[in-house]
Amino acid sequence: MSVADKGLEGVVAASSAICDVDGINGVLIYRGYDIHDLAEHSTFEEVTHLLWHGELPTRSQLAELRAQLGANMALPKPIIDLLHSFPRGTPPNPLLRTAFSAMAVYDPDRDDNSIEASWRKAIRATAQMGPLVAAVHRVSEGVDPLEPSPDATIAANFLYLLHGEWPDEVTEHVFDVALILHADHEFNASTFVARVTAATLSDYYSSITSALGALFGPLHGGANSGAIKMLREIGTPERAAPWVRAALDRHERIMGFGHRVYKTYDPRAAELKKMSRALAAAQGDMSLYEISVEIEKVMAEDRKLFPNVDFYSASTYTALGVPGPLFTPIFAVGRIAGWSAHVLEQYAHNRLIRPRSDYIGHRGRTFAPIADRG
Ligand SMILES: CC(C)(COP(=O)(O)OP(=O)(O)OC[C@H]1O[C@@H](n2cnc3c(N)ncnc32)[C@H](O)[C@@H]1OP(=O)(O)O)[C@@H](O)C(=O)NCCC(=O)NCCS
Repeated sequence: MSVADKGLEGVVAASSAICDVDGINGVLIYRGYDIHDLAEHSTFEEVTHLLWHGELPTRSQLAELRAQLGANMALPKPIIDLLHSFPRGTPPNPLLRTAFSAMAVYDPDRDDNSIEASWRKAIRATAQMGPLVAAVHRVSEGVDPLEPSPDATIAANFLYLLHGEWPDEVTEHVFDVALILHADHEFNASTFVARVTAATLSDYYSSITSALGALFGPLHGGANSGAIKMLREIGTPERAAPWVRAALDRHERIMGFGHRVYKTYDPRAAELKKMSRALAAAQGDMSLYEISVEIEKVMAEDRKLFPNVDFYSASTYTALGVPGPLFTPIFAVGRIAGWSAHVLEQYAHNRLIRPRSDYIGHRGRTFAPIADRG
């Protein structure tokens, strides 16, 4: 039995028709479409349809999906009550994971794990993830969550539910593109975990709750919250190079850099960098963007490491007024589209995912009764 490289590096674990990453050339495709084309021309709802059904939607298919999402955005009242019941000061990640898991109980298809019911759950949960993240924030801040508007997009609703004001078109568009860029990334850790859970024929909500747990780690979606902490600690562009070099000398990891698959520039980071720059220029405050560029230079020169999706999302989200601790939860607002596509693909072609371990422990030991163990 051969043993895979540590961390399953380079292992192709299953076939999938959803998304592909070419890490050498820095190319990311969803269902055959280049991420740059989707970022430039598409919307998150269109991309969700594409990921789920394999084709870009027609006008009527898009209208139908938007209507279904709109009809399902409102959160069940007991979920809001649950959020109110948690201790004040609890960080957003555990609040989100726990509340999301509880949503399974209120889903009208709670006891139905058929593929058809799982599709309906995917629509509901994708519609509700943004409102849920915004509610987590508002309840933590001691203010009541707001009602989503069924006619508005997921991006516009999220910004409204967070800030209490509808975003202008530019702001909505930037957040919408951020959702597109985060929507899928083949067998990343959280998606793989979701598929492992689905492959036991466990239910949709269990699969997505597993994914949330994996997402929160700093080596995965947690890196964006780490990146903004770093930018704030550095404070000015002049301090960036010495700060990063000192951290590297202490063998620390710089959040938002490096990737298991990309050995070149992450195409999502290129899109986010453009948006971060444009927002900073429009707001007349280039400081976080300039600090980011200085960090990028040092990482490329000293380590040949490039930014990943989490690096320029930090300055972009800050410019949109999103607080740092919410950066990781909002990763889930986009990624739930991809998680859902993968869970449903797994159900459709299922086989239990159950690898082996390379046992390196003892064998053949003689049992000693507790009285003889000293
Ligand atoms: C993403 C990540 C987990 C990939 O890890 P991986 O494929 O297992 O790569 P490794 O951890 O084996 O790293 C390879 C080398 O690059 C270094 N490295 C990788 N990412 C680094 C980073 N962000 N900062 C500093 N050094 C880094 C490692 O220290 C290691 O150096 P060594 O060989 O001298 O020990 C890793 O790059 C990382 O920790 N990045 C920071 C967290 C992050 O941004 N995560 C979001 C990913 S989208």
